[in-house]
Amino acid sequence: MKTLTGPFTQILPFTGLPLKGPLKDSQLQIINNGWVLSNNGRIVTIGTLERLRKDHPSAQINEITGDNVLLPGFIDCHTHICFAGNRANDYALRSSGKSYTEIAKSGGGIWDTVTQTRAASEATLTELLVKRADRHLSDGVTIIEVKSGYGLSVEQELKQLRAIKEASYKTKATLIPTCLAAHILPKDFEGTRSAYLDDILQNLLPIVKKENLANRVDIFIEDGAFKTDQALSFLDKAKRLGFDVTVHADQFSTGGSAVAVEIGAVSADHLEASKDKEIKLLAKSDTVAVALPGASLGLGMQYAPARKLLNAGACLAIASDWNPGSAPMGDLLMQAAVLGAAEKLTAAEVFAGLTSRAAHALRLTNRGTLATGAPAVMQAYPCSDYREILYNQGKLRSQILY
Ligand code: NIG
Ligand code: FE
Repeated sequence: MKTLTGPFTQILPFTGLPLKGPLKDSQLQIINNGWVLSNNGRIVTIGTLERLRKDHPSAQINEITGDNVLLPGFIDCHTHICFAGNRANDYALRSSGKSYTEIAKSGGGIWDTVTQTRAASEATLTELLVKRADRHLSDGVTIIEVKSGYGLSVEQELKQLRAIKEASYKTKATLIPTCLAAHILPKDFEGTRSAYLDDILQNLLPIVKKENLANRVDIFIEDGAFKTDQALSFLDKAKRLGFDVTVHADQFSTGGSAVAVEIGAVSADHLEASKDKEIKLLAKSDTVAVALPGASLGLGMQYAPARKLLNAGACLAIASDWNPGSAPMGDLLMQAAVLGAAEKLTAAEVFAGLTSRAAHALRLTNRGTLATGAPAVMQAYPCSDYREILYNQGKLRSQILY
């Protein structure tokens, strides 16, 4: 069925923009007082009511009142929202001066969430995840990447990934699962880090493939997690099994981004510790640099060098990293607005990082834009100028339109 939705004071389709490097707001295509013609949930074209109604007289009219700015739904290309419990204790300890790694060593950190998540049933995890996905959806985030990584055994990782699959049927948001069994070495694994990575490759990933639970594999490269040489060999084997790979890279120390580029990872995420050398490497590659301002806010540390990455020519996406430890807030738009203010990013760069460039981080085609043929999953902000959205730093709420 054909539908004409509008009018919109401004429509920003995010089509035709370069994938890499700086963007000026003047590069944005802005359609004033436009309408969207969709057919069975897919975008056909954008234009004036007069022309569209003449060409498609039978289209049903969906009239929107007041001033509204239309954007594609946002894409959060990095989250860990399949978890149980919380880590308020870690947060309090951090605020009193203890470091993330100190807290992890003293029994808090990722392992604490693993314990709480293992104790939850698959049904409970599904329910918690659906609630978080629906909250994100009501904040304009229509596609959400969700990592496992709080199970850390074959059985428990499968439980998380199956909960993500089940949740995807119960929320209107699109969930993109990623296997992060290589988050840390689980405390109860009897063997070395390399033996654990082998266990994942031999005993977990074949089931993940067979049950179609994820086509992406992630690893945390850091002191206290996995080393670069171990990660390189792990990711190489995961790629050979047919997975796209991505890396938690350069969060506290460098090394991860070079692995990501060498192996051809789809993205390298975090990058708070990246320096000129890493920035150059990423800029030359097709690996998307993903900034996670929510983790910087949660940990009270510096942002990823987003401005320098763009100036060097990288593709920059912005994601929330929503997780119970380092990034408990999960408000993607607020975080992106704050990163933009701190790093001097144009609105075009921020919004591309939440739409078309985030789609590239997940290697999704036809998503994150309002291009012909793309699903008509859109959001309307009650304002007359797109710049008001970041100016309100997350407080302007959109209406999702399908
Ligand atoms: O992306 N850095 C590693 N992993 C997560 C944190 C997970 C947690 O603390 O539970 C991150 O920040
Ligand atoms: Fe993360």
